[in-house]
This record gives sequence, C-alpha cells and structure tokens, in this order.
Amino acid sequence: MDSYSEFANLYDDLMRDFDYEKWFNYIEEIFMKYNIIPKNILEMACGTGNLSYFLGNRGYRLTCFDLSSDMLSKAYEKLRRFKNVKILKQDMVNFNFDKSFNAIISVCDSINYITDLENLNKTFNNVWKHLDDDGIFIFDVNSYYKLKNIIGNNIFVEDRKGIFYTWQNQFDENNNISSFYLTFFHGLDGVNYVRFDEEHRQRAYTVEEIVSSLKKAGFRTVDYYDAFSFDNPKIHSERINFVAIK
Ligand SMILES: C[S@@+](CC[C@H](N)C(=O)[O-])C[C@H]1O[C@@H](n2cnc3c(N)ncnc32)[C@H](O)[C@@H]1O
Repeated sequence: MDSYSEFANLYDDLMRDFDYEKWFNYIEEIFMKYNIIPKNILEMACGTGNLSYFLGNRGYRLTCFDLSSDMLSKAYEKLRRFKNVKILKQDMVNFNFDKSFNAIISVCDSINYITDLENLNKTFNNVWKHLDDDGIFIFDVNSYYKLKNIIGNNIFVEDRKGIFYTWQNQFDENNNISSFYLTFFHGLDGVNYVRFDEEHRQRAYTVEEIVSSLKKAGFRTVDYYDAFSFDNPKIHSERINFVAIK
C-alpha cells in the first residue's frame, strides 16, 4: 500500500491546525542564531510545499524535493508562481545534485520515514556531501517518547467536515517501528463517501542515535532542542529539532 498517494488530496485539510508560518519564523530564528545567511536552500521531503511557500515567498533561492508525485503536484500548485523555487522528485536517502547548498532543511517528522539506521546514515552522509563548508542542516523528528507512548498502540478517530478517518497504530518495540493504518472516508456532499486506506511507517530514533549518526557523517556541531524553542528537550517532548553544522 502506497503512502502519500490519495492522502495528498487531503493532506492540507488535515494539516490546517499546523502553523507553517510559525515554523518558518522558527527556521529564520535558527538562521539568525547560527549566523547563517541562506543563499541557496535545499528542502527535503517538502510534501505539498507548506513550508516551501514561506521560503519561496521570502525570496530565498530554494530547491525542494519529495518522493511522492502526488504530494509534489500539490506543491507545484502553490509554488509555480515563484521563479526562485525549483521542485523535483528525489529520495532523501540517495538524492543527487551537481551543486551544494548552504542550508538543508526537512520539517514535520519526514526523517522518521527513514526506517533503518543504515539509510539514516546514508541520508546524513548525503546531506553533508551537499552542504557548503559551515552550512547548516535543520530537521525535526517525532520523538521516541511520542511514537512509543502517545501514538503507541492507540486508535484515533476524527470526524471533520467532508472527512471521517480512523488512525490505528502499532508500535513494534523490537524494531522501534510505528505503523499507522489510516482509513479515510472522504465526501463533499455529506451523503456519499469514498474510502481509501494508507499505511505509514515511522522509525522512533533516540536522540543519541541521531547525534551519533550526524557525528559519524562529519558534522562538527550538533545541537537539539524542544521544537519551536531553544530549550533542552524534556522527557515528554513530542518533537525534537536538530541543528547540525558542517
Ligand atoms: C509528514 S509529511 C511532511 C511534508 C512536509 N515536509 C510538510 O511539512 O508538510 C512527510 C513527507 O515525507 C515524504 N517522504 C517520505 N520518505 C521520503 C524519502 N525517502 N525521500 C523524500 N521524501 C520522502 C513523504 O512523501 C511526505 O511528503
């Protein structure tokens, strides 16, 4: 079962409560804190382009990519007006560009979709290779705590205008894999609904695993924060933001 295929049509509706402008402001605060003047940004796993929109609108030279054509076609609708933005289909694990960037970004737990350590190492090596010296890598993850305890083995049900969905989850403690089984009923007239299902898998990483993988890739500085702040993560932090400097 594919992930992020039909789901792409509902993604922005379901993410309506996420404040991407706040996310964009946080990214700019990070640039300032680390004295980075972004000249050429790469955004990995840009999805439907929600953060990319703010980056493009600010005038940054941006290249963004995702693995899902359906997500990218939504991104294209938002971003085609910006001459400073390029959109491509690539895979985070083995993307390849013939140029480097001084900032690489990935938001909204996209890194958790890399479900084994070997591929995580490959991704971080690849990011390092595509960064200028002193370049910055910014990304966040769903914390181990959140995937194990909050999403855990729980079932969530949501009923909103035009979309009814169930989200059944299973956490496999042996492999640290969280499987989300999503069933959507989607209809605009309130009478006829179309059903589709998707399965998503995210890997729960400890902070130590991520730091060690970034250091192994060669990053000289690795910091991590409770997301949207510059505070240390707490035991119950649900989203952790990493900043690594080449
Ligand atoms: C939770 S969504 C986040 C999308 C976007 N960053 C946002 O903030 O809305 C995760 C995204 O990761 C993408 N993705 C998953 N694995 C990927 C990979 N190996 N390479 C590139 N994109 C990937 C999915 O297609 C999806 O668009």
